[in-house]
Amino acid sequence: MDQREQWASRHGFILATIGAAVGLGNIWRFSYVAGENGGAVFLFLYLLCVLFIGLPIVIAELALGRRAQGDVVAAFEHQGDQSLWRYVGWLGVVGAIAILSYYAVIAGWALKYFVGAATGTLWSKAAEGYGGYFKTFIANTGEPIAWQAAMLGASVYIVAGGVHKGIETVNRWLMPLLAIIIVVLAVFSLSLPGSAKGLEFLFAPDWSVMAKPGVYVAALGQAFFSLGVGMAVFVTYGSYMPRNFPLLTSAVGIAIGDTLFAIVAGMAIFPAVFAFDIDPTAGPELTFITLPQIFLQMPGGTLAGAVFFFLLSAAALTSMVSLLEVPVAIAVHRMSLRRWHAAGFAGTIIFLLGIPSAMSFGLLANIKIGRHGILDAIDAGVSNFLLPVAGILIVFYVGWKLERSIALGETELGEGWLGICWYWLVRSVAPLAISVILLQSASAM
Ligand code: PHE
Repeated sequence: MDQREQWASRHGFILATIGAAVGLGNIWRFSYVAGENGGAVFLFLYLLCVLFIGLPIVIAELALGRRAQGDVVAAFEHQGDQSLWRYVGWLGVVGAIAILSYYAVIAGWALKYFVGAATGTLWSKAAEGYGGYFKTFIANTGEPIAWQAAMLGASVYIVAGGVHKGIETVNRWLMPLLAIIIVVLAVFSLSLPGSAKGLEFLFAPDWSVMAKPGVYVAALGQAFFSLGVGMAVFVTYGSYMPRNFPLLTSAVGIAIGDTLFAIVAGMAIFPAVFAFDIDPTAGPELTFITLPQIFLQMPGGTLAGAVFFFLLSAAALTSMVSLLEVPVAIAVHRMSLRRWHAAGFAGTIIFLLGIPSAMSFGLLANIKIGRHGILDAIDAGVSNFLLPVAGILIVFYVGWKLERSIALGETELGEGWLGICWYWLVRSVAPLAISVILLQSASAM
């Protein structure tokens, strides 16, 4: 007997999927990767990746999930055969757990900054400078772990509440609020004298950046990470979708919502960065070291800072919830666990797995994987390798293994020109483009 839950409304479903897509990736990661990769050209390549690779995969993932009406492994077993394809489903589960393990750590940093900004302690730390403040904080052993646990605890609580009462409700409240906050912050930042240079950085391309080999894989990795594709999240969310929900409109809504959010976040961050003459290539520290410095110098900046870090923590939370739902759906379905137990169990394992990442700037700072510390290595490995590889496998399954009539029928695209375009992107363009970019980045290493 199937007692699977479903989304209660289209509106709630779309907000939950946008909540999954919009997260640290749009603010923390987008701003520093765009900053490191020359701004406008990166943005241009990123948009191409979203349109021609990311969006077709979102459509494919939602369709696979809705067809299966089961967990992500079931989505790849649906042909009835127990073929090797189901390991693509398991890869998604492993990937979601891997991402969530370190994502929770960074989300914890955001929460610490929000609490610090709201209570004022963040602003009184200015004497030692934010570089020192941030580095002392992340080098500490207990504190980052405590904040990581707080964010994971909140995610477990929401996921335990169920698809409709937990996930849908939280997203319905938070996502519209976050959209308003980011627009207000952008307007505020654009009103600063000297902000035009930031807009130029983000929108006026310096084409010479195209010669940099790393920019392509950076754009592709960012498109995957920011949309949240390749990781079973949309397969899982799609499986709670009633048949009469419009799949295509939802997929386009996700892609547009996620991209707009990243661009507006860029318009909030870069004008301020340039107005205060700060180097945009600071890397992952941009959000945690550079921005507080700017907030402190800005009129009304301490309020803006508190609002900003609230935004960052809440956006991270809605993405964490989507990632946690992937293993929870598996545990509920395959191990017949109750939701509460499944969420608590998965949350605890992910918390333990994330501890080395939380300690990778302190006690474990000397452990390097390649050039990176533990957290950075997992982030780079997942975004620039695991997500794209999982993406190739998903498009291969949908483009080559599923029958054409099923693929086009399930996505509601049919044999019209849109359907033919999508099928061609999924069968040839996406796998080819992803492979070329991966090979190019491997040879440049
Ligand atoms: N898309 C989320 C972000 O931008 C992260 C994420 C990745 C969520 C993969 C789900 C799956 O922060």
